[in-house]
Amino acid sequence: MMAEQARVAGEEALGDAVDILKRGGLVAFPTETVYGLGADACNPAAVRRIFAVKQRPTNHPLIVHLAAASQLTQWAQAIPDVAWQLAEQFWPGPLAMILPRHPDVPLAVTGGQQTIALRIPDNPLALALLRQFGGGIAAPSANRFNHVSPTQAAHVLSEIGDRIELILDGGNCRVGLESTIVNLSGREPQILRPGHITAEQIADVIGQKVCFPSRVETRAPGTLALHYAPETPSVLCTQSELLHHLEQCLAEKRRVGILSCRDYPQDEGRVYLQKMPDDPVAYAHDLYVALRQLDQLGLDTILVDAVPDDENWLAVNDRLRKATAAARV
Ligand code: TXA
Ligand code: MG
Repeated sequence: MMAEQARVAGEEALGDAVDILKRGGLVAFPTETVYGLGADACNPAAVRRIFAVKQRPTNHPLIVHLAAASQLTQWAQAIPDVAWQLAEQFWPGPLAMILPRHPDVPLAVTGGQQTIALRIPDNPLALALLRQFGGGIAAPSANRFNHVSPTQAAHVLSEIGDRIELILDGGNCRVGLESTIVNLSGREPQILRPGHITAEQIADVIGQKVCFPSRVETRAPGTLALHYAPETPSVLCTQSELLHHLEQCLAEKRRVGILSCRDYPQDEGRVYLQKMPDDPVAYAHDLYVALRQLDQLGLDTILVDAVPDDENWLAVNDRLRKATAAARV
């Protein structure tokens, strides 16, 4: 572990990034969803460093990032037709597929599982890095375990900047929420994590129903409650609950943050409103930045105004529930 801060650099550092990966080091890089913490997926020692840096349990599997769909056969086996159809339609893009693991894939990457998560990210720096490196890059989100995922290089720096050598800076992540995860290793396709690409879009391409498992049996930290959580106790509430909690907090002289698409009065420096867009794609894009901004204010409580309970808001709702799973007012 290094004590000094990681170098933050753009395209000009691609060659160095490849060198670092080749000698078993870690490089954070932008994707269209969130920043990833990358290591050579074929190097078990490098992969173990990811778990150490993130302080993530080693039985939680990682996503392997590829440059081209033709590489799928090196990482997965018994690949169903629907996987090729989805790759054709959505890659590069914010969709990760779970497939049976190729026997050569180190178990360190898959957390000991017989399946593997694969995706091609849609970001020019990520794709250039993957092409120049040539192999698969294992990369979870570049945050400490259970923290909010980073959508800017500065977020990565504050999360793990003292533990890695290089952060490739690609600006703001376009999507802002982690990829949709679809499990294609079972009898029927299942969404393990909702994201920008919806179940309906996937069903349209493969001509099959896609379900949401009621209980996830595979080890997927993204499916644990209390993932993506800010440090400040955060509560998800309806508008009337929010008004009630707000009154209570103010009576107790607590400092409160509100995350909402609506307007609320910002009272005497004790109420901080983080106004959100009322479109689900724009909301998703801004969510993690907004949570980080509120978190930095050192508030007593964050009140999160509920968003509509419909299909378009599924991914946002999922992350809001996870960000607020632990707290009470
Ligand atoms: O958008 C993303 O997917 C970002 C960027 C960097 O690509 N990555 C990301 O990685 O979110 P991570 O590790 O934070 O989340 C990956 C999710 C976890 O919930 C993990 O358990 C699940 O994918 N996963 C990976 N392999 C799996 C497998 N074989 N079976 C079930 N879930 C798996
Ligand atoms: Mg993560």
